[in-house]
Amino acid sequence: MKMETVTGRILITGALGQIGTELSAKLSEIYGKDNVIATDIREEHDNNPAGYYEVLDVMDLEKAKSIIEKYNIKIVYHLASLLSGTAEKNPQLAWKLNIDPLLFFLNLAKDKTIDQIFWPSSIAVFGREIPKQNVGQEVPLNPSTVYGITKLAGEKWCEYYFNKYGVDVRSVRYPGLISWKAPAGGGTTDYAVEIYYKAIEDGKYTSFISENTAMPMMYMDDAIDATLQLMHAPKETLTVHTSYNLGGMSFAPKELAASIQKEIPDFQINYEPDFRQAIADSWPSSIEDTVAKKDWNLSYRFDMDAMTKDMLKNLKVKLGK
Ligand code: SER
Repeated sequence: MKMETVTGRILITGALGQIGTELSAKLSEIYGKDNVIATDIREEHDNNPAGYYEVLDVMDLEKAKSIIEKYNIKIVYHLASLLSGTAEKNPQLAWKLNIDPLLFFLNLAKDKTIDQIFWPSSIAVFGREIPKQNVGQEVPLNPSTVYGITKLAGEKWCEYYFNKYGVDVRSVRYPGLISWKAPAGGGTTDYAVEIYYKAIEDGKYTSFISENTAMPMMYMDDAIDATLQLMHAPKETLTVHTSYNLGGMSFAPKELAASIQKEIPDFQINYEPDFRQAIADSWPSSIEDTVAKKDWNLSYRFDMDAMTKDMLKNLKVKLGK
């Protein structure tokens, strides 16, 4: 890939997380690793490919400010967040962590200290009162989870800062993301990651989501491509300033198990739904994303079986199996 030049450097929060790990690599490849500063709450960061690493609890806004100044940061990928399962267990922390740092970065963009922000929203912004299939961009948003409430509020803050101050903040509503490099952490869609580890390690998996509960999902490679396509799109072409729907694919645990059984015929699955089932029940089963396709050419490379093949191939190497 051709290396691109940037006028300032890029900061990633939550850089050791499921998305951050892969974005750190991709942004380092595109812009050169010396232009990428990875931050996360953990000390150990052995495998992060960014040129610089700083320990940052993103609620420590003073420290965030000093890192922005130290490295002349101009673009922020603000990924640090509590996901749906964890947020339900700690609502106060979820509100503080998911909203305060976003507002902090939006204010830095308003003051022109930074130029551009990426902030992820989620399928959690929708609610029960809409049809579950093929949910469009403009439907009533009525989340019933703490996580969904924080993401809806965040979307509205992004739109407000765009409308009022012209802040260049861009966002997508990620579906469940599936990847092998870094584990998912604390989400309702995490079963679709864990299942692959267990298929290789134990040949069986107990799903905490029931067999026929379909949710929107996407392979990480497609999610990273989509994120960068959106961030590189000309500002004038963007018509959504809350957050763009990303559809990806839609499947239930039973269908994912069948996809794995094509590769590992003896794989077995059983079901013991826990508190996350109620969260899944409040979310759409599939998402429609024509606006993103029209505005910035969103496209996908992976369907479920292609994803399964790639996941198993890479995880076998990673797990030494
Ligand atoms: N993957 C996320 C979760 O399950 C959804 O945005 O919390």
